[in-house]
Amino acid sequence: MKQNKLYIDEMMRLYAVVCCLGVALASPPLAKSREEIQAFRSFLENTQKENAGLSRKTSPINGVSLLLDNPELYSGKFEGDIVLDDWQIEAMVQEYAMGRNAYTWPDTKWPDNTVIWEFGEGPTFDPQQVADIEEAIADIERHTCVKFRYREPNDTAYVSVTGIAGGCWADLGYWEARGAHSYNVARNTSGLGCFSRSSIVHEWMHILGFFHMHSTYDRDDYIRIAFENIQPGMEGNFMVESPVNVTNYGLPYDYVSCLQYPARAFSINGLPTIVALQDHEGVMGQREYITDMDWKRINRHYNCPGAWD
Ligand SMILES: *[C@@H]1O[C@H](CO)[C@@H](O)[C@H](O)[C@H]1NC(C)=O
Ligand SMILES: *[C@@H]1O[C@H](CO)[C@@H](O)[C@H](O)[C@H]1NC(C)=O
Ligand SMILES: *[C@@H]1O[C@H](CO)[C@@H](O)[C@H](O)[C@H]1NC(C)=O
Repeated sequence: MKQNKLYIDEMMRLYAVVCCLGVALASPPLAKSREEIQAFRSFLENTQKENAGLSRKTSPINGVSLLLDNPELYSGKFEGDIVLDDWQIEAMVQEYAMGRNAYTWPDTKWPDNTVIWEFGEGPTFDPQQVADIEEAIADIERHTCVKFRYREPNDTAYVSVTGIAGGCWADLGYWEARGAHSYNVARNTSGLGCFSRSSIVHEWMHILGFFHMHSTYDRDDYIRIAFENIQPGMEGNFMVESPVNVTNYGLPYDYVSCLQYPARAFSINGLPTIVALQDHEGVMGQREYITDMDWKRINRHYNCPGAWD
């Protein structure tokens, strides 16, 4: 507990320094051309469209197996499955214009470590699917101090769990003004597509405030992005976030995290788009299991007891 406190103090100090830096950097010259900025904005705005992914669910080669392995990549949202709000796009465009890459709100944690959720409108889940979602929630509660509570009528900020066809996607973190937060897992057989335990948890991790593993600020020390193999227009899915608002919580890069993209994500030619630079156990981008480090990241993010031991 003492350690937690220390860490919070440390973060506060870090944040204070960062704020000053932010002021100092308030009006740097633009690092990108007007055209580049406009193209980036269009890319982000397109990810907001309903069913944006339906036309590009399969890549020309090997698309089918990619879809089988990682359905969350092809819903056409930001980085495949993150739903962006207008204000997030605005902030990201600003960051991009200044030569930085991405943005996340500093405090997107659920108050009282408690996610409030309900089943939303749309296609009805069958009993097995309901059980799969509830068991994944129980799994998160077992491994972390994050709690889930079903929505009461007077809760105004909550997650609406839906099963619309076309992939899996979710909002990023808690944002009170957002009201209903999106969380979608296309209905499927238990264990398949969005209904693998790992995919269900992957989407909850977005809700808890996590970007993808491969977009963390120091990822270039661990992976190489092979831009020549990425489908044109999909490069925006491989951005790097700023260390200012994103942290690895002192944990090493996790190639087998349930938040890591697979090697051929958004490939145009079947060749890898992500190349591991270091040896690691397991398959990069696997969705068979959730790693100890995935749980640890959640525990540290939510300052759970023992997370820093
Ligand atoms: C980090 O978050 C703060 C607070 O919202 C924001 O003002 C700042 O622009 C963000 N910085 C970066 C680099 O994303
Ligand atoms: C919502 O209602 C419950 C009782 O049903 C109450 O305990 C709780 O404080 C209320 N929450 C808010 C935010 O008003
Ligand atoms: C279920 O998942 C499998 C494997 O990802 C996929 O091929 C199939 O299209 C999915 N079914 C539906 C109805 O989405």
